[in-house]
Parts: sequence; structure tokens; C-alpha cells
Amino acid sequence: PLVSMAPLLAKAEEGKYAVGAFNCNNMEIVQAIIAAAEAERSPVIIQASQGAIKYAGIDYIVALTKIAAENTFVPVALHLDHGTSFDQCMQCIRSGFSSVMIDGSKYALEENIAITNRVLAVARAVGVSVEAELGKIGGTEDDIHVDERDALFTDPNDAKRFVEETGVDALAIAIGTAHGQYKGRPELDFERLKKIKSLVDMPIVLHGSSGVPEEDIRKAIDLGVRKVNIDTNLREAFVEGVKEAIAKNPNEIDPRKLLGPAKTKMSEVIREKIRIFGSNGKV
Ligand code: G3H
Ligand code: 13P
Ligand code: ZN
Ligand code: NA
Repeated sequence: PLVSMAPLLAKAEEGKYAVGAFNCNNMEIVQAIIAAAEAERSPVIIQASQGAIKYAGIDYIVALTKIAAENTFVPVALHLDHGTSFDQCMQCIRSGFSSVMIDGSKYALEENIAITNRVLAVARAVGVSVEAELGKIGGTEDDIHVDERDALFTDPNDAKRFVEETGVDALAIAIGTAHGQYKGRPELDFERLKKIKSLVDMPIVLHGSSGVPEEDIRKAIDLGVRKVNIDTNLREAFVEGVKEAIAKNPNEIDPRKLLGPAKTKMSEVIREKIRIFGSNGKV
């Protein structure tokens, strides 16, 4: 069934595990996510990025995920990833999303609190959960130097104030992860995570989790991360699956023979993630 993200994360908080949030862009990805969640008996979050909305459109994403959620025994939340504005969050809520992220991290603290509260007021009224972001999560091209870490990473005291003045369901923080593939091994600021969790006793979200070593993901979950975002690893699996299928049969003209293996590859990756996050067997 389609559910809000809040109860999934509340249960994860109780059980000290994390729920995977996997980015979807088309039918094959939705099916791969659901198949993996069913096989692992795990709750799951399907999320749509700005790129996904541009590529597939809000209505297609909702239609695909709704059908999937209605026909499975695992709880599924449909979440807007990095929502850019109040209007976009409203559009997604109206279209059927059960959860939204309002990413006000580019604004000053007060402004971020204000825009988050505008979204919250509406979302609360209709039972939709809200994730917000504080601090600057790196992009693929960003090389964050040690002296910049303090300025870019989430300030624990800001986090405390942000949560007190908003009451969001989940808070995305910046502790050294980045979207996309990493050049070297990312260096996470676990001390900062520990401090934040001690000040805000609520579900923390880790973005940019593809490419973070398994032990670091486990450690982050130990310290209070309850939602782990994965996109890049699914893209890699998808493309690898297609390439392998083409290499095996260069004359293949049936797209299903190329996308089927890609789907299987993605599902395998998702199942592995779910087991690392510890959400397997929770349904
Ligand atoms: O937000 C993080 C995604 O991994 C990037 O999304 O390229 O589909 O907009 P996008
Ligand atoms: P990765 O692409 O690094 O997995 O990051 C995904 C993400 O954080 C989506 O919001
Ligand atoms: Zn992200
Ligand atoms: Na990453």
C-alpha cells in the first residue's frame, strides 16, 4: 500500500535501522525497487528527483508508483526528492505523492525555516510527510577542502533550532557525502552526526549514499540515520545490465531483452542495500 514516510521512519527509529530511498525514472526502476522490497520483506521509499520529473513527468511517476504500491504487501512511500519550491511540493501533493522534501538548503536559516513551515502547514493537513535539508550536500564536481567543511556541513545548533521551529518528519544533513560517484573515499564527519542526533532526536537522512563504503553506512545508521538515499548505484546497475545484454547479443532488436536484465541487476543491488540498511524482514 501507499503510505506516508513518517510511520516508516518512526518504526525505523524504534528498531534502529534505515529505510532505503531509491530514485525512480521509469517503469523498470519502479518494478525493480518493488521486487527487491518484496523479496526482502522491507518497507521502501520511491523518490522522484528534478531530473525524474523532467524526464517522466509527475503524472507518470505517480501512476507507476501508485499501481505498484496498491498491488504489493510492502508499505511504499512516494517521495519528492529535493523539492525546489512551495509550488512544486503542492503540485506533487495534489498529484498523489505521500511525502515531499522541501530543499531550502540554499537559503539562510530563517528563510529555510519559513519555506519549510509553509510546506508543512499544507502537508500536515493532508497527511503528507515532509523532509527538509540543512547544510550543503556536495555535488559530483565539488571538491570540498578540509577548511571548508565547517562552513558547508550542517551546524548542530542550527539543526536544533531548525527542528524546534519546524517539526519536520526527517532532516537531511551534510556530513561529507556527495551526489554521484566519488573520486576517492568520502570522509564522513561522524562526530558531527553524533552531535546532531543528540540535539535532535529524530530521523536523519543521508543523501549521496551511493559510493559510501558499507561500513560507513552501517556506522551512520548506528548513529541515527533512518533514511538512506540511493540513485547513482541504480543508474550504474541499469546501464551495466543493458551493456552486458547488448554485448551478449549485439543483434538484439527487442528492448525487453535489454531492459529485463537491467531490471534484474538493479533489483540485486537494491536487495543488497536493504540488507545493509537492516530494513529486511520488517514487513
Ligand atoms: O538528487 C539527486 C539525484 O541523484 C540527481 O537527480 O539528475 O535525476 O535530477 P537528477
Ligand atoms: P547518490 O546518487 O549519490 O546515490 O545520491 C542520491 C541522493 O541523495 C538523492 O537525493
Ligand atoms: Zn539528495
Ligand atoms: Na554518492
